[in-house]
Amino acid sequence: MSEFTKTKQQQKILQKLKLYTGILFAVLACIILLSTPKAIPQQPVVLNMLITAPDAQPWKQGIIKDFEAKNPGIRINLVEGPNSTNLLEDLYTSAFILGDSPYDLVNMDVIWTSKFAAAGWLLDLSDRLTKEELAAFSPKDVEAGRYEGKLYRIPVRSDVGVLYYREDLLKGAGFQAPETFADLLKISKSLKEQGKVNWGYIWQGRQYEGLAAMFVEVLQGFGGFWVKPDTLEVGLDKPETLKAIAFLKDTIQEGISPPGVTTYIEEDTRRIFQSGQTAFLRSWPYVWPLANAEDSPLKGKIAIIPMVATPGNSGGACLGGWGLGIAKSSKHPQEAWKAIQFFTNEEVQRQFILKAGFVPSRRSLFTDSQIVSKYPHYPQLLKIANQAVLRPPIAQYAQASDILQRYLSAALTNRMTPESAMQAAANETKLLLNNSKSRSVLSVSAGPQRG
Ligand code: GLC
Repeated sequence: MSEFTKTKQQQKILQKLKLYTGILFAVLACIILLSTPKAIPQQPVVLNMLITAPDAQPWKQGIIKDFEAKNPGIRINLVEGPNSTNLLEDLYTSAFILGDSPYDLVNMDVIWTSKFAAAGWLLDLSDRLTKEELAAFSPKDVEAGRYEGKLYRIPVRSDVGVLYYREDLLKGAGFQAPETFADLLKISKSLKEQGKVNWGYIWQGRQYEGLAAMFVEVLQGFGGFWVKPDTLEVGLDKPETLKAIAFLKDTIQEGISPPGVTTYIEEDTRRIFQSGQTAFLRSWPYVWPLANAEDSPLKGKIAIIPMVATPGNSGGACLGGWGLGIAKSSKHPQEAWKAIQFFTNEEVQRQFILKAGFVPSRRSLFTDSQIVSKYPHYPQLLKIANQAVLRPPIAQYAQASDILQRYLSAALTNRMTPESAMQAAANETKLLLNNSKSRSVLSVSAGPQRG
């Protein structure tokens, strides 16, 4: 055999060998694939949930890990959204409008339920909890989860607007905590003049939901109202509303609030307060643990009171808060319910509140010994929570709030006079309520429940 034929034969053998090995590998791969499903661990079910970035921290720090440890087949994927509640609502809304929403758990602000439920985006959870189980939660938080008598949202934590003040500075200057708007302005001015602070009072003035939440408190303090839920009467063009706006404008004109206050949301105001630049802050209880953290210059120097009022009126505290619903389009409603049950049980709520300093939804936690020893201001917080005022619980809340935000912002930033802005806001709101024959969520809330 010539060298040439020998190499050719060798090449052929080599090719065949390659072919057989290829086939062998393919067969082996098939066998492995077909025989291993039992060996490969099952992919966990992933529950997606969108949440504002500051709220994500306490979730991530504990309760999600605990849930996943107890439920190895379920993972919670927290999607951190923007800080403002409106932007978060927009993201949920566009996801639902597009159809197959990527979210399973719907983390809802206290004011969203009626809109989301009316649009058919949420599962009805009415028969999941007994009356007794629901009775452990604050009634207003539960009501905020109902639409046309059905329950769509289980409270996870409540919220209530409070007035923070620098106890150290007020005491040092011989002042009592303020009770009226006039007191607030007087103390602010004096502390500013003494050079103790750069600003007196700071609040959320940007055109967004936080502006409406802040405004209902000032409005209540002047004896005014936005929309009466039972009669749908609109109070935006009443003299009390104009007085409330005049107070806010005065804070800017008199240099008590910085001019930039009309662009601030909660986190902007917290940073300024926490850096020691201002004597008073209107915000939510989440500020407390942050302002009292080890590295905070305000540690041990602050106290809370309800929002001030004019003599004869009581200070308003806006009811806020967050709860969980299940997206109708979720492919994992059972797992989502398991997660809601876990996150709303008493022990988990206790841990959650201890970490974040949020307002409890479960009434018993306000006086819980562990919680009170870490947060001695909770009994005071309960008093404020009991006084909480709702933003109007009407199905068209989102539009009503948008109208108020637009015109109030125009008045505060001198783009319109308060009179013409509030006249226009009142007219648009009346039109909205007449056209949509909006009904009070509260008045139709006594719906079917189990138990
Ligand atoms: C807080 C409240 C929420 C409110 C929002 C306004 O997150 O819990 O109810 O709508 O602030 O910014």
